[in-house]
Amino acid sequence: MAKCVNKENMVLPSLKEARLRRNFKTETIKYSVIDKYAHLGDGKTYYIYTYGCQGNEADSEIMAGILESIGYKKAMDPLDADLVLLNTCAVRENAEQRIWGVLGQLKGRKRNHPDMIIGICGCMPQEENATQKLIESYPFVDLIFGTHNRGNLPKLIYQAYFTKEKAVEVLSTEGNILEGAPKVRDNKYKAWVHIMYGCDEFCTYCIVPYTRGRERSRAKEDILAEVNELVKEGYKEITLLGQNVNAYGKDLGNDYTFGDLLRDIDKTGIERVRFTSPHPRDMDENAISAMAECKSVMPHIHFPVQSGNDRVLKIMNRKYTREEYLYKIKRLKEEIPGISITTDIIVGYPGETKEEFNDTLSLVEEAGFEGAFTFIYSKREGTPAAKMEDPISDSEKHEWFDELKKAVDKGYLRGTERFVGEVVEVLVDGESKSDLGMMSGYSKHNKLTHFKSNDKSLIGKIVKVKVKEAKSWFMIGDLVE
Ligand code: 5AD
Ligand code: SF4
Repeated sequence: MAKCVNKENMVLPSLKEARLRRNFKTETIKYSVIDKYAHLGDGKTYYIYTYGCQGNEADSEIMAGILESIGYKKAMDPLDADLVLLNTCAVRENAEQRIWGVLGQLKGRKRNHPDMIIGICGCMPQEENATQKLIESYPFVDLIFGTHNRGNLPKLIYQAYFTKEKAVEVLSTEGNILEGAPKVRDNKYKAWVHIMYGCDEFCTYCIVPYTRGRERSRAKEDILAEVNELVKEGYKEITLLGQNVNAYGKDLGNDYTFGDLLRDIDKTGIERVRFTSPHPRDMDENAISAMAECKSVMPHIHFPVQSGNDRVLKIMNRKYTREEYLYKIKRLKEEIPGISITTDIIVGYPGETKEEFNDTLSLVEEAGFEGAFTFIYSKREGTPAAKMEDPISDSEKHEWFDELKKAVDKGYLRGTERFVGEVVEVLVDGESKSDLGMMSGYSKHNKLTHFKSNDKSLIGKIVKVKVKEAKSWFMIGDLVE
């Protein structure tokens, strides 16, 4: 594997290297820790800030597991922690801006607590510019490591403590899978399960294929063993994760695909299965029929479309047309009646015209989305779109964005109103954050649902709720005995 090592023994990222897709064989590495590091954290505390996608949340659970296995305990207050990690996101510029802000706060804290170790990990360090800036302008940051290097966390901490050197390890082309690392899961009933890593799609706006590496699928035996274990521990819901989750298995070359995996997972007895995020192009008939046949697979799909215009889809390198996307939606609705469909949309792609944006607006209606994450295009250095002409002004993009929001909000309301008078099954998360005396959870269609109760023993159980009121972002109902 190619490494970019400088004279201070730092392993530095290279976006050019990260772009390459060589014919590597994926190795599965079994996590282990040598005796030298086994008690590094005894008597010390840690805190992990997590930004960005669910993939990062799952990665933070692994890092917490690794830290606790070497003696660290979780700090109640991040500013009191002996070790603070920032697990970062690079997908849009505003995600990065927040990190520079948090670093500013931590700098002050470190002045009074010089032994505190500060580490940055996740997607941001994979970008050359970000890592350069961290090294040059943030001398109080002790650890910088990338998405492929978290298995080395104990070694990097050791280096920071005992050699007092900045530990920088950001591999760009690694293609391994880490198995067997301990995890501290945040929730006792709902769990993340990575089924694949990386992305080979190279949508022209997106930094992820560079920060997360090539597509590599976990062995189905390892996934099923993890799910079986979760069932034994009483977990009710899992969310299968992957940057391009339904490309599962393509790299394994054994004809076992995402749909087959859903069927095998269904047999484990887990009650609820969700997944994120699928690519429309890879949503094949086998996956759709598996979704329809497997009782555990929930009738909701987050199905990123990005744009409703063929020219824009083409320059985004999405590899489908509006018509092909709508056909997949039709098939999903035919096979899974009542399915709830949500999406991701980008507004103001370089060169997008108002007419092209109007196609996205009409698609929101036509597809019947019941929710969408909407984003104004954010330039990511190193991606092809960063070099494209972008004549539309920011204020115009914001106008389009507001128009889109209105269309999307109508869909949210339609998506909850259709359940008024119906009984829905809700996996109870806990007390409602906004209303005392209410509990809340998510229905099968992924609608936040509140109901009157203060019975904490319901947490983690699936209850029946009769919906009596629908709002855009949630539903309210009564427990059904
Ligand atoms: N600008 C704006 N949105 C982006 N996304 C990915 N890259 C960018 C970018 N450069 C959005 C896409 C993707 C979601 C996770 O983030 O909509 O589906
Ligand atoms: Fe980015 Fe496209 Fe891959 Fe999604 S499919 S992670 S948008 S490159």
